[in-house]
Amino acid sequence: MKDEEVSSRNILNELNGAEWLYFTRSIMTTSYPSTYGHHLRKAHGANKPPQLMSQLIEFFTKPGARVLDPFAGVGGTLIGASICKKPREAIGIEINQQWVVIYQQILKEYQDQLLPQQLFCGDCLQLMAEMESESFDFIATDPPYNIHLEQTMSGKQRAHQHVNRRTIYDMRSDDPSDLANLPSYEAYLEVMEQVFEGCHRLLKPKKYMAIIVRNAYQHGEYTFTHVDLARRARMHGFIPKGEIVWYQIGTRLRPYGYPFAYIPNIAHQYIVILQRV
Ligand SMILES: C[S@@+](CC[C@H](N)C(=O)[O-])C[C@H]1O[C@@H](n2cnc3c(N)ncnc32)[C@H](O)[C@@H]1O
Repeated sequence: MKDEEVSSRNILNELNGAEWLYFTRSIMTTSYPSTYGHHLRKAHGANKPPQLMSQLIEFFTKPGARVLDPFAGVGGTLIGASICKKPREAIGIEINQQWVVIYQQILKEYQDQLLPQQLFCGDCLQLMAEMESESFDFIATDPPYNIHLEQTMSGKQRAHQHVNRRTIYDMRSDDPSDLANLPSYEAYLEVMEQVFEGCHRLLKPKKYMAIIVRNAYQHGEYTFTHVDLARRARMHGFIPKGEIVWYQIGTRLRPYGYPFAYIPNIAHQYIVILQRV
């Protein structure tokens, strides 16, 4: 393997051997400058760095590929596709108009620098059903992690203790199709199964899907959401291929269980990699 050259047999991306190897490590830390409309995007409590999303897109696609994000928020994936060395086309779906407006503001602010992508406002289950089968080369998304997390982070007690007025942790809209409004974790997993079914139909065979998930400690119990989601995806034609632990350096440590019990300070998220059969 020649480190500096892109292999002529490389059917997946345009990375050389060294770049390919570096990406395949299973732990990642990131530290990016606060650019690409970060001052606007940070209003969304779960926004993802466009630079991280572009790393994923550049590994899992070649130029000319089409990328889908069914839970697009303020557009981390869409901006990520635009800032790839050779930009890719990306389509996003977001149920909350408030976040769609922020993405549009960013496009206005960066009109000479960012390739504009399409962000549709609506329920991803409905809008995905209208899209053409096998029309995407990669899906990258972070769904609402689970309803408990959203409720806890926006819960009255914590909201007062850890107030951060510029960030909205209660990301729920009033729309009943918003996954964060589901009544239970089981109901969340069932709807995610429907989302995976839709993703399977839209993705070309053998192509990849990356799901970013944060696990949660709730009501005295730890939930392995990333495992639950990978298993549900497996039931709908996706083979689990691996996970990248995304270590969020700088996470503030809070004395949740001190000095009585072990309660983790969760300072990482998982990027679960699945391949469509
Ligand atoms: C974890 S956030 C995604 C953040 C995004 N990656 C970004 O960089 O901003 C999940 C998003 O899914 C949206 N959402 C929830 N239910 C949805 C649905 N049924 N269809 C489309 N979007 C939905 C929420 O409004 C939320 O913005």
